[in-house]
Amino acid sequence: EDRQRNEAFESRIDEGDFIEAKDWMPEHYRKTLVRQISQHAHSEIVGMLPEGNWITRAPTLKRKAILLAKVQDEGGHGLYLYSAAETLGTSRDQMLDALHTGKAKYSSIFNYPTLTWADIGVVGWLVDGAAIMNQVPLCRCSYGPYARAMIRICREESFHQRQGYESLLTMMRDGTDAQKAMVQDAVNRWWWPSLMMFGPADKDSPNSEQSMRWGIKRLTNDELRQKFVDATVPQAELLGITLPDPDLKWNAEREHHDFGAIDWNEFWRVVGGNGPCNTERLQARVKAWDDGAWVRDAALAHARKRAPEARA
Ligand code: 3HC
Repeated sequence: EDRQRNEAFESRIDEGDFIEAKDWMPEHYRKTLVRQISQHAHSEIVGMLPEGNWITRAPTLKRKAILLAKVQDEGGHGLYLYSAAETLGTSRDQMLDALHTGKAKYSSIFNYPTLTWADIGVVGWLVDGAAIMNQVPLCRCSYGPYARAMIRICREESFHQRQGYESLLTMMRDGTDAQKAMVQDAVNRWWWPSLMMFGPADKDSPNSEQSMRWGIKRLTNDELRQKFVDATVPQAELLGITLPDPDLKWNAEREHHDFGAIDWNEFWRVVGGNGPCNTERLQARVKAWDDGAWVRDAALAHARKRAPEARA
């Protein structure tokens, strides 16, 4: 019985079908999607913190308004993705408890500090640029609700990336030497952590093979990382900054850029909770959850009053 259902499921995946919430699916498929979508949602919510840090200090009203809109978008992406994960039978409380107790992961990139205003432009350019590279293939993910959430999110991500790049262009073209140095310093600090966003090397990725088989991943971690490097090098040249990798160079034979070794010790240290800002980020999220308890209680009390049968 189960073997037949598994075979039917696998052939649906092979035919490029979208699996919907009410369809039968192997427990492992459900579990890996809850893991990936909830961690993706956590990343969006935690990702609001490094940028939110600069909303009150943006240099002009225009930059403040743009940053406000971007951080608001990230919050919306998070809620959108929590809803997509809920279609798989998990609850918002379970997912948030996993985040707050350190059981669930979120993208390592958000455990680095945003030290200067140039960081905000670099985060838009590199971090949202990497996110787009990783999220466009997810629009074709075999799980329907996730793929559809990605289509809307990717549209907003391209605005995020473009506004970041444009603010750096302004600094590099019209800025003082100190402002140009500020951009270069931010790039030096964010380049390698941005490459780590794509995950471990394929050979060290326990989930990739199954995720590729099930059409959750359409390109591997290394393939997406390579696409990101190839797309970003010309943008860096246009900006007039150098990327902090002496081994970065065009390989005419491969028709890709070769680049230096990633410090996987740093990657696993940050993923393991020991990056520069992990404690601070999680404390901020737990505090927000605790401070917001009265809002949730009031909303639930109001809902019960409005729908008496829900009083049970
Ligand atoms: N940070 C934290 N954990 C990471 C990581 C990273 N950069 N890269 C990989 N990991 C974790 C994985 O979650 C997995 O741990 P788990 O099994 O406990 O979940 C482990 O390291 C091994 O990695 P795998 O490659 O085997 O895991 P995946 O197949 O899940 O691939 C992934 C990792 C590419 C991040 C994939 O999960 C994915 O595509 N997720 C959806 C996209 C996403 O979450 N992007 C994060 C950034 S969101 C963002 O940038 C918002 C934007 O607005 C700025």
